[in-house]
Parts: sequence; C-alpha cells; structure tokens
Amino acid sequence: ATHNLLLLPGDGIGPEIMVEVKKVISWFNAQGGDSFETDEGLVGGSAYDAHGVAISEEDMAKAMAADAVIFGAVGGPKWDSVPYDVRPEAGLLRLRKDMELFANLRPAICYPALADASSLKKDIIEGLDILILRELTGGVYFGEPKTITDLGNGQKRAIDTQVYDTYEIERIAKAAFEFARTRNGKVTSMEKRNVMKSGVLWNEVVTATHKNGYEDVKLEHMLADAGGMQLVRWPKQFDVIVCDNLFGDMLSDVAAMLTGSLGMLPSASLGAADPKTGKRKALYEPVHGSAPDIAGTGAANPIAMIASFAMALRYSFEKVAEADMLDKAIANALAKGLRTKDIASEGTKVVGTSEMGDAIIAE
Ligand code: NAI
Ligand code: MG
Repeated sequence: ATHNLLLLPGDGIGPEIMVEVKKVISWFNAQGGDSFETDEGLVGGSAYDAHGVAISEEDMAKAMAADAVIFGAVGGPKWDSVPYDVRPEAGLLRLRKDMELFANLRPAICYPALADASSLKKDIIEGLDILILRELTGGVYFGEPKTITDLGNGQKRAIDTQVYDTYEIERIAKAAFEFARTRNGKVTSMEKRNVMKSGVLWNEVVTATHKNGYEDVKLEHMLADAGGMQLVRWPKQFDVIVCDNLFGDMLSDVAAMLTGSLGMLPSASLGAADPKTGKRKALYEPVHGSAPDIAGTGAANPIAMIASFAMALRYSFEKVAEADMLDKAIANALAKGLRTKDIASEGTKVVGTSEMGDAIIAE
C-alpha cells in the first residue's frame, strides 16, 4: 500500500528537524513493501509570509486528504505583531478544529541512556513507557457559559462550564482501549466522580464502553488527584491513562517532565475512525515549539520529531514492529553516547541535528 503524508515543517527549527524525518521516510521507502508518498505545505509564519494566512485553503485541503500530517513547529518573534486571526498558532488551531482531532496522545518514555541524567530516582523512571490520552475538543476549555460578570458590589464572578456528552467520552474511551491493545493492554481512566457530574458520566461511559467489546483490555479507575500523585510516585504502574481535557493538560505536562527534555517529546492528535475504512485523521508533532533561539545553528534535537513519526507508524499505519524498531534506533543512538546540546551531559558526545538523524538511521 501507499500512504500519503503531508509534511508541514513550519518555522524556526521546524524545517531543520523535518529534514531528518524525510531521511527516515526515505529509509523506510528503500526497504520495499509499503511506501510513503510525501507532499509538503506551509504553515505558521512561513505561510503568512507567502500567502498572508497561517495556512492556505489549498494546504488545508491537502491536510484533510492526507493519511497523516507530520507537523514541525510554528511561531517566532518575526510574527509577534501579525493580526490575531492569522498568527502562526492559528494554523495549528485550524488544523485541529477542521480535522476534529479530539484525542491527544502524549507518551512519556524514559530512554535507558538518559535515566542516569534525570534528577528523579533512577528506579522510578528507568524503562518507563506510558501514554497519556487527553480529550482535546471538549470540556471546560470550550463549554458555555464562559463569562466574567460584574456583580456591581466590587465583586466579579467568573464562570467556566465543563460539558461532556456521551459520544465524546465514548470515542476517547474506545481510542484508549484500541491503543492499549497495541501496547501493554491496560487503561487507567481518571476523573473526579466524587465531586463532578462530568466525572460520574465519564466513569459510567468508560465502564460501559469497556464491556462492549474491549474486555480483553484491563481497565482501572482512579480519581484524578490521586492519579497525579501516583504518576509521580510510581509511574510504571500505568500503560495508557485516559482523561478529560483539563486533567489531561496537567497530567501530560507532569508526565512529560518525568523523562526530561522538550526536545525528546513526541505527540499525536487523532480524529474519529472512519466507519468504512477504520482510518483516523491524524497529526503528529513534537511537543516543543520553533525554538527561535537556536534556529539556524544546526543544534536542534530531531528526536521529538522522529519519535512523532514513529507514533505515525504505530497509530496511523499499524506498523508496530517498524515503530518499535525506530524507537529502538533512537535508544541505541543515545546508548552510544550521542547527544544534541539540549540533552548533553558529562562523558557524552555532542552532535548536531543531521548527525543525530544519521546516527538514528544507521542504528
Ligand atoms: P520552544 O519549545 O520553542 O523552546 C523552549 C526552549 O527549549 C528553548 O530554549 C529551545 O531552544 C529549547 N528547545 C525546544 N525544542 C528543542 C529541540 N528540538 N532541540 C533543542 N532545544 C529545543 O518554546 P518557546 O521558546 O516558548 O516558543 C518559541 C516559539 O514557538 C513561540 O513563537 C511559540 O509560540 C512557539 N510554539 C509553538 C508550538 C507549536 O508549534 N506546537 C508549541 C510551543 C511554542
Ligand atoms: Mg499544557
């Protein structure tokens, strides 16, 4: 089969790390079997410079048609004063909205070679490999009413509203169970059913979805505050954690920092599975931004970007063995002592963006 990828390098270090992903894609294409066809578009400041918008309609259409979008990073001081609706981030928000990317996946992986460099106890994070699945399009960030009202007595009242419908919880729960099947077969659902109605419904729908065809996956429930504590105390107890937008935002940032540098963290945002083909719209991107402070110096760490492509192999193309191989190649390059500047420590060898990419391909 041929898989169509739209590459959106973006701004700053985005294009520099995308070069390394292109090398990885060429490597896979040279192995025979399934192949990847790539097209390229502009997003963020680079799209604004070319077209006066954060993403053109033509590139939006390409994104909607692609099997997966591989996204670099957007933004930078050059575009700090462009109008709000065409600012670089607007390109990413438009992609998320139009592609209905309701599931945000953030893995927290500890590469053995980096376990020693962490400030955390080694036995807590060594071998860590968990996946946080955050609901991305609902909940308290979007619910109405969302207001600040002047009460007239020197007081104001702020209101945010948490709203979840059954279908929104069901589709993220299904995604969690399906991803757990490609991993270690366990899902932990986190909410606050003790104090929130949305938590009660969340718990109910996740439980019902589990009974409906996913009982091969182990399901456990945890109150989100206790879950946060457990995540720091003994993160290896988890495989897939599924939670709402707000808890997921916080818990994924906490989990990310268990394992270290921004330059190491991949992510995926997925849409609903097409009922006919089972395919999901998907966007893969590093967690970090465009790093204008190091752009153009050849020092950017390409690992988050390459690991994001590994997630595409795993979650869009069912290439679990290939994804494992790519993740292993990253681990091996690190094990040989190669480091980009952002993750360098004593006794390691500092290399640039392209050397790191080449080393991973060699592995
Ligand atoms: P940033 O993530 O770009 O950089 C933060 C720090 O981490 C910088 O010192 C940078 O050099 C370093 N860093 C980040 N990625 C790295 C990598 N791959 N290798 C080595 N070092 C790396 O965040 P910052 O500085 O707050 O934002 C810079 C620009 O990026 C802003 O315009 C911001 O709006 C945008 N941004 C874009 C995102 C996206 O495209 N999804 C996400 C976050 C920020
Ligand atoms: Mg956050």
